Amino acid sequence: MIEVQNLTKQYGTKKAVDNLSFTVNDGEILGFLGPNGAGKSTTMNMLTGYISSTEGKALINGIDILDDPIEAKKNIGYLPEIPPLYLDMTVKDYLNFIYDLKKCKLPRKAHLEDVCNLVMIKDVYNRIIRNLSKGYKQRVGLAQALIGNPPILILDEPTVGLDPKQIIEIRSLIKKLGKKHTVILSSHILPEIQAVCDRIIIINGGKIAADDTTENLTKNISTDHKLIARIEGPKDEILKMIKNMPGVVSVVADMEREKGIFDYEIEAKEGVDLRRELFKRVVARNWVILGLKTTEMTLEDIFLKITMGDDVVINTKKNDAEAKAEAADAKAEEYDKLAKKADEASAEAIDEKEGEE
Ligand SMILES: Nc1ncnc2c1ncn2[C@@H]1O[C@H](COP(=O)(O)OP(=O)(O)O)[C@@H](O)[C@H]1O
Ligand SMILES: [Mg+2]
Repeated sequence: MIEVQNLTKQYGTKKAVDNLSFTVNDGEILGFLGPNGAGKSTTMNMLTGYISSTEGKALINGIDILDDPIEAKKNIGYLPEIPPLYLDMTVKDYLNFIYDLKKCKLPRKAHLEDVCNLVMIKDVYNRIIRNLSKGYKQRVGLAQALIGNPPILILDEPTVGLDPKQIIEIRSLIKKLGKKHTVILSSHILPEIQAVCDRIIIINGGKIAADDTTENLTKNISTDHKLIARIEGPKDEILKMIKNMPGVVSVVADMEREKGIFDYEIEAKEGVDLRRELFKRVVARNWVILGLKTTEMTLEDIFLKITMGDDVVINTKKNDAEAKAEAADAKAEEYDKLAKKADEASAEAIDEKEGEE
């Protein structure tokens, strides 16, 4: 378990890390997400005792990293941003050297073999590190962190500079490691964090901007619910029908896709999923749905929102939604005049059912 209390790092007048507090439980894979310069590496360097903190403390399994660094560090495997490799050594010599440095007590040959199998570097075991590809160098860096089998792994941007194939390999390796270790992983690449981590701390300007499970973060932000339905049928009647559905904020018809077929952009109230009801109503009127998709906000959107100035983005969105709602209202009035009782009989039947809910 890692407990971080009011951790702060001051460089001159600049606070690189500003009063961070969080806890990482055993077995968790925590993602540290933030743009460059957010303070991720500085935080990791303090957690691992590589640099001292200006204020606050970090406890590794209950041990203060500054009070008893040797005991605390026994629990940690660290892969810094730039792997600490000796390029002139062979992989074999380097890993043996690290084994000695860490005063590892596990049976040497078997343990090094296990580690090499895990990170898949057996085929380069006797090669000079300098000549390895970046992906292999990174895996040797991981191997170094794994020696001594520490319960906690701290990995600083482990996939930076790798090609897509290597990125996928390292990611699945980290997921595998997460089954037996507590992992903190930093990245400025969102899909990476999303793919690998159970929990995400978004860090920006040295402060925590969000701290939640990946699932919750994704769920919280997908409430901005927009639906695009491609429907074949009389446009004005369709607009009116959708406008009358409970939970609809606005609806506008996009351009004509094929003859008599339009895309309707529907905005629903928070937490309302219109898809099933829309389907029923369209079928009840003998129109046809040819396409239906939700455009939910992604974690990428929230990351940008948080790191690029929340207010601006939210306000524009709100105004945009308001403008659309007004436009839709104006249009709806027109349609009211045109479309009379065409769909009322069947719509009433459906509304009655809703009234009971
Ligand atoms: N040794 C240092 N001296 C002065 N400023 C530093 C030092 N190390 C980092 N910084 C500054 O602290 C901030 C956070 O850096 P860093 O932790 O490396 O961010 P990240 O890893 O999220 O990209 C940056 O503005 C960086 O320039
Ligand atoms: Mg960094």
